Amino acid sequence: MKISSHAVARMLGTWQEGPGPAHQRLSDRLRLLILDGRLSLGAALPSERDLAFALGTSRTTVGAAFRTLVEHGYLATQARTRATVRLPDDTTAGHPVRTGTETIDLSFAAPAAPVEILHAAFATALEHLPRHFERHGYDRYGTAELREAVAQWYQRRGLPTDPDHILITNGAQHALALLARLLLSPRDKVLIDHPTYPHAITAFTEARARLLPVAVTSSGWDIEQLHAAGRAANLAYLIPDFHNPTGLYMPTRVRQQLRLACPTVVDETMTDLALDVPSPEPLAVHMPTAISIGSVSKSIWGGLRIGWIRALPSLLERVEQARPATDLGTPVVEQLATAVLLNEHRTQRSDTLQQLRSQRDALRQALTEYLPDVHALQPAGGVTLWATFPEPISSRLAAIAPDHGVTIAAGPRFGIGGAFERNIRLPYTLPSSQLVQAIRRLAQAEQALVHGATGSHSPAPVA
Ligand SMILES: Cc1ncc(COP(=O)(O)O)c(C=O)c1O
Repeated sequence: MKISSHAVARMLGTWQEGPGPAHQRLSDRLRLLILDGRLSLGAALPSERDLAFALGTSRTTVGAAFRTLVEHGYLATQARTRATVRLPDDTTAGHPVRTGTETIDLSFAAPAAPVEILHAAFATALEHLPRHFERHGYDRYGTAELREAVAQWYQRRGLPTDPDHILITNGAQHALALLARLLLSPRDKVLIDHPTYPHAITAFTEARARLLPVAVTSSGWDIEQLHAAGRAANLAYLIPDFHNPTGLYMPTRVRQQLRLACPTVVDETMTDLALDVPSPEPLAVHMPTAISIGSVSKSIWGGLRIGWIRALPSLLERVEQARPATDLGTPVVEQLATAVLLNEHRTQRSDTLQQLRSQRDALRQALTEYLPDVHALQPAGGVTLWATFPEPISSRLAAIAPDHGVTIAAGPRFGIGGAFERNIRLPYTLPSSQLVQAIRRLAQAEQALVHGATGSHSPAPVA
């Protein structure tokens, strides 16, 4: 697949900013795009000349950046053909350098499984499974047991819901992708929080929609801006409950006043992870037309791959009809186990919430100690901190962080147009000792950047 110079320039965003020589900034940023999968393996890059023109830089700069990438195994070149994306032979799980100690992965924001609880739920699920053997097992709405359990979960949260209002999906991402395909036409406009969850951006851009970002700042959502953007948008996508990546939640006052003129998808994936505030009321209590999507990926385990859509039966019928283009239903055993977990109220476990609080505190403490210039909001819930550096170094830091034994998600992944170059997202889903170690490594990486010791792919000392 050939990638145009304009597409690469868009992905690169504000690569020109930051310390160090331009060719190094460019190669670090391209390397990050490759490791992130935004430049896919085998993709053919534009010629040096075209890319230099699109970036407004010299061909020498692009040539030097390409040479660094070839040297380190990220690009393959042949005479008279475009450079193609590859990964170095010694890459482990996408990380270029072995550090001698295991790399700590801060690019995923999801907790490990609650082992005993899951075992017990699957044991019960297996007892219930034979009830389903007489039927074919393809159920595009999901099993009756799980639809009922999800409807009850909404009832407990103060939102009357009938099982007819629920369609089970393979995770919230699947729910989002199904809705994007169904509700969007090319060039439609989608209002998004800015920053937002990166795979939502992917789902909307795959549907060839245009994005209308509305800033979510340290003071939260701006209702005037939301209303204005809502008038121009064909669809809105909001994460009001412990927003990914900032951890903010939309206060009741804003929920009550919000009146968007376009259909609105409300992502409640994090809602059961309220750490410092009571669990938020569903936004659909105040906005009855809202289409809600949910999941047990963060509250129980991502490996279950169970999510859902709550909407009017007329919309769900359209989703059900469109679904076979992508899949024919959700595995039955996982649905039965999730129904058990929801019926036993296992999505809000006080021990897990307590553990997340203490990991969050350990992460913040480590930031204060090792990266004192970094500012991070205190998230009221969810699993991530949104950290702000004084300088726009996020992409370069993410590019070299694996050399220091840690992987992070760079800020621009959470926005459009190269925004958030001063931010990184830090999840607190790992044990505290690993989080502290990760921040120490990140501080080493930052020091290497500041002192211009970047691009050396030799293993850095790891504390
Ligand atoms: C806001 C948000 N929505 C959706 C998802 C996807 O969830 P699932 O694993 O259920 O597909 C995530 C996962 O990180 C998320 O943070």
